[in-house]
Amino acid sequence: MQNTIQSIFQYLHCHPELPGEEKHTTEYIAQMLSQIDGIEIEYFDHCYGLLAQIKGAKPGKKIVFRADIDALPILEETNLEYKSQHNGVSHVCGHDIHITVGIELARRLAAVRDQLSGTVYLLFQPEEENALGAKKVVASKKLQGMDLSLSLHTNPNMDCGEIGIKSGPITSNVNRMRIVINGTGCHGAEPQNGNDPIVAASAIVMALQTIVSRNVNPAQRAVVSVTHFESGKDWNVIPANAILEGTVRTFDEETRELIKGRIYDISANVAAAYGVWADVQIVDGPIATNNDEKIAEMAVAYGREHGFKMVPGEQSMVGEDYAFIQREVPGMMVWLGVGKGPGLHNPSYVADPGAIEVGAEYFAGLIQQLL
Ligand code: NI
Repeated sequence: MQNTIQSIFQYLHCHPELPGEEKHTTEYIAQMLSQIDGIEIEYFDHCYGLLAQIKGAKPGKKIVFRADIDALPILEETNLEYKSQHNGVSHVCGHDIHITVGIELARRLAAVRDQLSGTVYLLFQPEEENALGAKKVVASKKLQGMDLSLSLHTNPNMDCGEIGIKSGPITSNVNRMRIVINGTGCHGAEPQNGNDPIVAASAIVMALQTIVSRNVNPAQRAVVSVTHFESGKDWNVIPANAILEGTVRTFDEETRELIKGRIYDISANVAAAYGVWADVQIVDGPIATNNDEKIAEMAVAYGREHGFKMVPGEQSMVGEDYAFIQREVPGMMVWLGVGKGPGLHNPSYVADPGAIEVGAEYFAGLIQQLL
């Protein structure tokens, strides 16, 4: 292969594309895969990304390895020589590492396809950050009949090359909330003539903070964050409305539904107490991942036997749309340590590319064992 792992990674890092715009990234991946013998490529009708197939010599299981390929609308703030050349767009979630692991994995597995029993699929999935990609891939029905899925995510809380595995959920249910408080505007000097939405919205923000501390079972983990509060535009006018936005993170359905119910109740009743009206919208985002217990056990045992640095997998409050693939094809997502540093989606996030080789070697071996 003419292109080294490092040059592929650096090229991808330099040329990030937003969800739904991964045209060039898809072409580049296809170009890299076309240099490997024994790979067939299929495309999706309703999104970018691709599905590559490596057929073993003997029949057997169908395993899919999924790598997400999109980037974020964040201006990169690193001093890397291969820093993003696309202004305001960057791979600060490490999906460039995922793609490169996928390409290197393809190279390694294609080289031993005469000894493989079964078929390995490499799914290069678009639109993870807007949580649409996995659903589109599932809707394409191209994953039907597959036996097992595997995926990875970079983790900047772990040393480079460490592999973190945990059964059950490792990423959370995501909900997005938007609350519009409708009051009555008036002169700032005459509050008696209006219904102030800012005071009501402030009371709602404070009351929402009691959901996790007073309503959620302390044995469960959950987050309710108000992240956007907007109202008014003048110093002497009480505005007519206020907007709140935020997110809810949970790991189980029961807690998710409990919190949604409390948000509706608190918003409506606090609003009523202040003489205003709250319009609440809560949208379901990705569901929590759910790593298969047996596969996780086997994957830990495989890693230990073969000298990989295995660590317990962290349970994170981030969302991951791989959960929708996992619901279709059971499997496991693994944390790949990329060196400790600024977190995912942080403008200064840097992944140590040394992790790519480890990731590819680990998955190549694990997949051959699982087949
Ligand atoms: Ni990500």
